[in-house]
Amino acid sequence: MRTKIVAGNWKMNKNSSETTELLNQLQSKMPKTSAEVMVAPTFVNLAQAVTQLAASSIEVVAQNMHFAENGAYTGEISANMLQSVGIKTVILGHSERRAYFGEDDALLAKKVDAALKAGIRMIFCFGEELQDRKSGNHFKVVEAQLKNGLFHVGKAHWQHIVLAYEPVWAIGTGETASPEQAQEMHAFIRKTIATAYDETTAQMVTILYGGSVKPGNANEIFSKPDVDGGLIGGASLVAEDFAAIVAAI
Ligand code: 13P
Repeated sequence: MRTKIVAGNWKMNKNSSETTELLNQLQSKMPKTSAEVMVAPTFVNLAQAVTQLAASSIEVVAQNMHFAENGAYTGEISANMLQSVGIKTVILGHSERRAYFGEDDALLAKKVDAALKAGIRMIFCFGEELQDRKSGNHFKVVEAQLKNGLFHVGKAHWQHIVLAYEPVWAIGTGETASPEQAQEMHAFIRKTIATAYDETTAQMVTILYGGSVKPGNANEIFSKPDVDGGLIGGASLVAEDFAAIVAAI
């Protein structure tokens, strides 16, 4: 049985007091679940969120990190810095990092190595753009992102890896992949892992779907056999909606 996960990526939203307020609401509304529930506030509010959720089962995770252990990288944050405030999981390769901050597969491969070296679990994000899907290249694009960013790691490391398939055309657009499109891609991802590694590894890895998941569509998307949960953007900023999505898993 694979681990089910629902993670809220807050992106660049919520200041310090707003973070406290949203976490309070989440704690009071969160349904009982056997799934792992995570929230990813901004860097500056991670430490306070960890303290606030110390007695909660909700895990605080980071949205990004740098590949170096330390040094002259103004404005960047290392794995060790995250771990020093209680962070155990980091999101890597989000499409907004790729599109707006020039993160390519080669850079992400270095971040993957840094996370593994530090012993921090990753949620590795990837997904095709609209033009890739329209031209029928979506499988090729996803396969290349996995091969170039991730597949250099040894089999034993896969226990520290969660995948998040986020088609770029479905992020923040209100347009989701249909449950069938999500299932088709997730099955393809598992097959690609089985070919590169083995079937056991492919069956073990948790694969999340992200892109306009809302309370109204979460049930249907999560019901697909290869969809193990969601990475939620906009709807994770509204406590009722995030709680309803968690209930759907
Ligand atoms: P939305 O749920 O707002 O489409 O964002 C998805 C996402 O990018 C999560 O990382």
